Amino acid sequence: MIEEIKKDALEKGVPIIKDEGLAFLLNFIDQHHCKDILELGTAVGYSAIMMANSDPDIMIDTIEKNEDMYNQAVNNIKDCGLEDRIEVHLSAIEDFKTAKMYDLIFIDAAKAQYGRYMEMFLNNLKDNGYMLFDNMVFHGLVEEPEKITSRNLRNLVKKIIKFREMVQNDNRFDIMMFDNVGDGILVLNRRKSET
Ligand SMILES: C[S@@+](CC[C@H](N)C(=O)[O-])C[C@H]1O[C@@H](n2cnc3c(N)ncnc32)[C@H](O)[C@@H]1O
Repeated sequence: MIEEIKKDALEKGVPIIKDEGLAFLLNFIDQHHCKDILELGTAVGYSAIMMANSDPDIMIDTIEKNEDMYNQAVNNIKDCGLEDRIEVHLSAIEDFKTAKMYDLIFIDAAKAQYGRYMEMFLNNLKDNGYMLFDNMVFHGLVEEPEKITSRNLRNLVKKIIKFREMVQNDNRFDIMMFDNVGDGILVLNRRKSET
């Protein structure tokens, strides 16, 4: 079932997490005993299903603004029998509010908004919780932004670079940068003393 969902997503050009990034994510969840997870960017539910399948105690909220994607995700999750553990919210991330607290927030949407999302959901992170950001090297482009000819893409890559620099100087977190994993993964660990 999950292989079909993956194959279908890849055929239709739906941007799902790469194998290497997913292996890292699942290993991270296991190592750090993450049970309550918020995902920003559902697409067709592939990564949410993989996370839920990795441990029966995992509960996931995931947010998607595109109605077509949302409907596909809801159907896929139902087909996998995971509707009791994965709740898909049809909403723009910017409009989503919750009082729930999470062990892990996985951010996999609108790269230009990473800094904004970090601030928005900081208070939903448990003490010592983690935020994990994908696409932090953006296909290697963060190394040489000046070589990018498209202005939009150059601006996006510059925003990712700025975000990387900003978190490195933010003493609310310990950071771990994994540039060589998948498309680059950044992990923020909220320090316990933060209120
Ligand atoms: C990279 S895909 C998510 C892939 C998914 N996590 C996976 O690996 O299976 C990003 C998704 O985020 C959604 N998205 C982008 N910006 C959003 C926003 N502001 N609010 C809600 N969803 C958004 C897009 O519609 C897209 O489906």
